[in-house]
Amino acid sequence: MASGIRCITDEAEKARKLAETSENVPPALVESTRRVTRLLSDFMNYVEGMASPASGDINAIVTFTETNDWVKFGQEHSLPVMSSRMMSGRQEAQFLRLLVSMCKATRVLEIGMFTGCAALAMAEALPSHGTVITCDIHAPLETLVRKFVDKSPHGEKIKIKIGPALETLQGFSDEGLQFDFVFIDADKTNYKNYFKFLLDKGLLAPGGTICCDNVLWGGNSFLPPEERDSTRGSSVHDIPEFNELVANDDRVYQVILPLRDGVSIIRRKEDVDGKK
Ligand SMILES: C[S@@+](CC[C@H](N)C(=O)[O-])C[C@H]1O[C@@H](n2cnc3c(N)ncnc32)[C@H](O)[C@@H]1O
Repeated sequence: MASGIRCITDEAEKARKLAETSENVPPALVESTRRVTRLLSDFMNYVEGMASPASGDINAIVTFTETNDWVKFGQEHSLPVMSSRMMSGRQEAQFLRLLVSMCKATRVLEIGMFTGCAALAMAEALPSHGTVITCDIHAPLETLVRKFVDKSPHGEKIKIKIGPALETLQGFSDEGLQFDFVFIDADKTNYKNYFKFLLDKGLLAPGGTICCDNVLWGGNSFLPPEERDSTRGSSVHDIPEFNELVANDDRVYQVILPLRDGVSIIRRKEDVDGKK
């Protein structure tokens, strides 16, 4: 499971192993390192376990995504290798359902569809005339997602757009489309471009909400630059830079929730500030 505190759990695990294998470590200290490791794991399992169960249709997507042979899928469709770790999952699906319902959204945009877990979860919270437009760069995902979402009574609310998301957004802007709720969950390098586009070109409707996934990025966001996981490419810097860009943007308020790999919620100040 993607976790925004991965760097902390990894460090706790390292400390436990070190304590267990070193000489002259007081038994109480060994026990304490074991307890920290266990508490971190219990904490994450508890928070996940207390989320209300997902629908049968979401469960079918999650089970497929977790058991599919993604290496074979990539080879068959000449795509980069994807992984079940890219999926939002049951807990986040439930979170998005609640958020979309709280926002009373009818027009939802998702940037980064993968196997359609979040798209279907958000569709489940929409009124019957509501729409989720979900975008992905990889065309073969469309057939796969349609197969699952069309079994759901909410599948008709889902429209899929294939292509690089920035081009798709440009098309929406040309058509004059606006969205009440936007979930950003595609390539991390472009988060700042998606955010700027949504606000600068007015794709975010008045009163609209943006939610961004993976903003803790395994903990890399709060690690000093030199301690970030360089094996993950530029995204380990792109995401913290994006978070700062939003935090310093005078037009909006942002909060980051440590849910799973970190989720931020962003709204225009004028839609939040009360009137005197
Ligand atoms: C983390 S996954 C999305 C997970 C999904 N939201 C869910 O609920 O499970 C990211 C997706 O973004 C897509 N993607 C990556 N770069 C993209 C781009 N430039 N434009 C559109 N989609 C992109 C990938 O193909 C991948 O399916």
